[in-house]
Amino acid sequence: MELSPWLILFSVLVQASVILADTNTQDTSGLTGIAASWNTKPSNWVGNDPCGDKWVGIICTQDRVTSIRLSSFGLSGSLSGDIQSLSELQYLDLSYNKELGGSLPSSIGSLSNLQNLILVGCSFTGEIPTEIGQLSNLIFLSLNSNRFTGRIPPSLGGLSKLYWFDLADNKLTGGLPVYDGINLGLDNLTNTKHFHFGVNQLSGTIPSQIFSSHMKLIHLLIDNNNFSGRIPSTLGLLNVLEVLRFDNNYQLSGPVPSNINNLTKLAEFHLENNQLSGPLPDLTGMNSLSFVDMSNNSFNASDDPSWLTALPSLTSLYLENLDIGGQLPQALFSLPAIQTLRLRGNRFNGTLNIGSDFSTQLQKIDLQDNQITAITVGGSQYSKKLILSGNPICNQGSTEQYCKTTGQSNPTGPSYITSKNCAGLPPTCLSSQLLSPSCTCAVPYKGTLFFRAPSFSDLTNGSYYIQLEKGMKAKFLGYSIPVDSISVENPYVDSNNNLQMNLGVFPSNKILFGERDISEIGFILSNQTYKPPPIFGPYYFIGQQYPFASEALVISKSKANKLPLIVGVAAGGAVLVAILLILVVVIGRRKKKTNRTEERSQSFASLDMKSTSTSVPQLRGARIFTFAELKKITNNFSEANDIGNGGFGKVYRGTLPTGQLVAVKRSQEGSLQGNLEFRTEIELLSRVHHKNVVSLVGFCLDQGEQMLVYEYIPNGTLKESLTGKSGVRLDWKRRLRVILGAAKGIAYLHELAEPPIVHRDIKSSNVLLDERLNAKVADFGLSKLLGEERGQVTTQVKGTMGYLDPEYYMTQQLTEKSDVYSFGVLLLEVITAKKPLERGRYIVREVHAAMDRSKDLYGLHELLDPLLGASPSSLGGLEHYVDLALRCVEEAGADRPSMGEAVSELERITRMAGGVTESASESMSYASRTPRHPYGGDSASEYSGAGLPSSRVEPK
Ligand SMILES: *[C@@H]1O[C@H](CO)[C@@H](O)[C@H](O)[C@H]1NC(C)=O
Ligand SMILES: *[C@@H]1O[C@H](CO)[C@@H](O)[C@H](O)[C@H]1NC(C)=O
Ligand SMILES: *[C@@H]1O[C@H](CO)[C@@H](O)[C@H](O)[C@H]1NC(C)=O
Ligand SMILES: *[C@@H]1O[C@H](CO)[C@@H](O)[C@H](O)[C@H]1NC(C)=O
Repeated sequence: MELSPWLILFSVLVQASVILADTNTQDTSGLTGIAASWNTKPSNWVGNDPCGDKWVGIICTQDRVTSIRLSSFGLSGSLSGDIQSLSELQYLDLSYNKELGGSLPSSIGSLSNLQNLILVGCSFTGEIPTEIGQLSNLIFLSLNSNRFTGRIPPSLGGLSKLYWFDLADNKLTGGLPVYDGINLGLDNLTNTKHFHFGVNQLSGTIPSQIFSSHMKLIHLLIDNNNFSGRIPSTLGLLNVLEVLRFDNNYQLSGPVPSNINNLTKLAEFHLENNQLSGPLPDLTGMNSLSFVDMSNNSFNASDDPSWLTALPSLTSLYLENLDIGGQLPQALFSLPAIQTLRLRGNRFNGTLNIGSDFSTQLQKIDLQDNQITAITVGGSQYSKKLILSGNPICNQGSTEQYCKTTGQSNPTGPSYITSKNCAGLPPTCLSSQLLSPSCTCAVPYKGTLFFRAPSFSDLTNGSYYIQLEKGMKAKFLGYSIPVDSISVENPYVDSNNNLQMNLGVFPSNKILFGERDISEIGFILSNQTYKPPPIFGPYYFIGQQYPFASEALVISKSKANKLPLIVGVAAGGAVLVAILLILVVVIGRRKKKTNRTEERSQSFASLDMKSTSTSVPQLRGARIFTFAELKKITNNFSEANDIGNGGFGKVYRGTLPTGQLVAVKRSQEGSLQGNLEFRTEIELLSRVHHKNVVSLVGFCLDQGEQMLVYEYIPNGTLKESLTGKSGVRLDWKRRLRVILGAAKGIAYLHELAEPPIVHRDIKSSNVLLDERLNAKVADFGLSKLLGEERGQVTTQVKGTMGYLDPEYYMTQQLTEKSDVYSFGVLLLEVITAKKPLERGRYIVREVHAAMDRSKDLYGLHELLDPLLGASPSSLGGLEHYVDLALRCVEEAGADRPSMGEAVSELERITRMAGGVTESASESMSYASRTPRHPYGGDSASEYSGAGLPSSRVEPK
């Protein structure tokens, strides 16, 4: 048999590829096995050569895999026992994959080279495998924010090199294991600097054996557990300790060891919410203390708090409900760094003397429910928060601000938001994007930073966050990650007493981060490579899944080398892809019959990046509605709520549970044209926000339905008003007001949307009127982003006959000037109340023909709408108006004004007519009958006896 040369070539190639693979086969099969237990994997994980092909998130040393870093990749499934094949693995970071769970395979204990095991913010369950104690090279162990149960394995005491040990925020039970002669315990971790065990269900007493002078602990966090019994006096041996959190155990009792003063490096000291008794500890000599909270314990009554003034670094003193009496020393208020004094529920008495040299940092003095009888005059210079309600000084019905109980403790608005440095008007970002601090639109990597024991309590001091932003950016740039800027938002203290804030990391010179960028950013945060300014203290980070899905589009399009415009278009496309993905996800999940509400909000999270953000309020995103919700709010799409229909389908009125009236546009089944228009409309409307553009509330892609939900505009369309159908009477001034509003809406689309949008279907039935006769431009089904297509030949000319720009129709080149033409036609329609094209009569031609510039009103009396009241005196500015209209319908686009120019001219004309150019307060109510509604775009039935239907032109 003769071998075909092709076959030979093929077999050579196959062999070559085997030979060329750079990766150890055991590692390759290990990785393949791991990926097989995930529902997704990074985009380039194909083939059999992870090292040679540089698989995303994989780092090799020669042919061996030494690092896996896949944080925030949206991995779901479990961690396969195949991990044991990767015998040279040093770093394993799968953090922030919140659907990655199941139990940890015990075979992980065979990875004898493992140094960092980082699984923060996943969903791992079951017990922590005892075998992890065999990882003798382990330096960094972070299993926090999972759902581990059971006890802390004593074997972990064998991790003699361990430096970082974080088990916080799990469901661990049992006690803290110590060496018992056979089993090792946490007391053997003499190289560990961090014990982070807070937010679990650990219980029992804190064994005195656990602390010794051999230990190097700097952070000891066992807050929010169920520990009971006494605090062992061995605590005083931890003489390098900086942060101590024993708070919120509720059952710790007995006295605080008297050698606590030995902890001279201690800066953050939390004992609150326990049952500690004995004398109130005198903290003299602990000169590093900045944050002290001993509130809500059962200490003996104390009447000499003078030691309070002996703490030179104190920023925050929280001693609530402690039975402390006597006169508050004035020196307390002049401690140089003091910010917050929370001293309510004590017996402080006498005169409150804040003095005049109180610290400039002082923000809040809460002395509610004490026995203060007077306040000295010096204190009147103090203008920050002071609460004295519940003191004798407030008993006589005092109206002083400090006696008010409400409105004092709740801050209004977020305490900090990174400012946006925009030179002019900020651009309008796509709904999937956010405005970065340097004023560009991009998709940030987002997550939450948790600071477990900050040394400050004044959350409004922007300089802290600015330091953090700068330091973090510098760290990323140090690793050559293209980071443009860092944003921090809304810091607040959560119920676990952590300082939380939202973090956004924005890419530099691109819209989206790549997979490699995210792998590194996530690792720098999960591995604690980034160190915040010391005042922030220990932290952890929980990242969100990054929406890579849209990335491919941007890369493929940006080859064309026209970045700003193309990126907008590509990212617009990305929204479509995201919507399609959601469809797939939603349909797929429906089949699984899982919790629908939750799935919905999760799947939408990737599309609507800003739904949880407070930073850029004008970027309000569209909501996803379920079919059931819309069915309910429209009363099962009842006749009574049917307010119109068009080519797209029917429009219903509905009332959201919030009371907001909405219009629900429901597409007809199988309407293909509707399909495209539907998506265009969501894509565009979710990124444009202007008072003269109808806004999208949300949409529904459920059970095969396509529905758009808009703000409800009560007065129908301009077309209905002109024909008298809606009951709205429009005199000249009102018409000017309406047309000026419409012009502003269109000008916004052309000149302020980024990239610009050409509406392509400007006509009177697409201008809606609200109750104050503000015009709102609607129906974006045909609209186009003016990106790379500007001035280029488009394959399909679309629009409505009568309004269609002849130049566009002939050249098929789309520009903003096509809308200007349609707007010119609309201007003429508004004064004639005639359909632009009817029985062969074309309004533009008619006006040209009838016009005589030497006459009053240009001799157009015959053509004008009689309802205008055609006396020259009542129609001030009409001639200028007609001039403008005719310039708008010039044959050559270049001769037409821009919409911005049209707006200025209409403002001038409005003033001539004696009208106002800004929304006046006049409220219109024309309740004669419910107008037919508008959102469906055109409806051929609206003009009876029409010659040419005003249907859309769509050549094949
Ligand atoms: C573990 O710590 C205890 C002291 O708590 C010590 O006696 C014992 O020798 C240590 N064992 C090892 C293996 O380090
Ligand atoms: C306080 O610390 C010193 C060493 O810093 C140590 O010698 C001393 O024994 C400690 N005192 C107590 C009461 O633990
Ligand atoms: C304040 O209370 C202390 C006891 O806590 C008492 O000795 C002192 O007389 C009181 N001072 C005033 C002014 O009531
Ligand atoms: C992980 O972070 C530690 C500091 O916490 C640092 O020393 C180490 O180099 C980091 N590892 C890598 C691979 O960057």
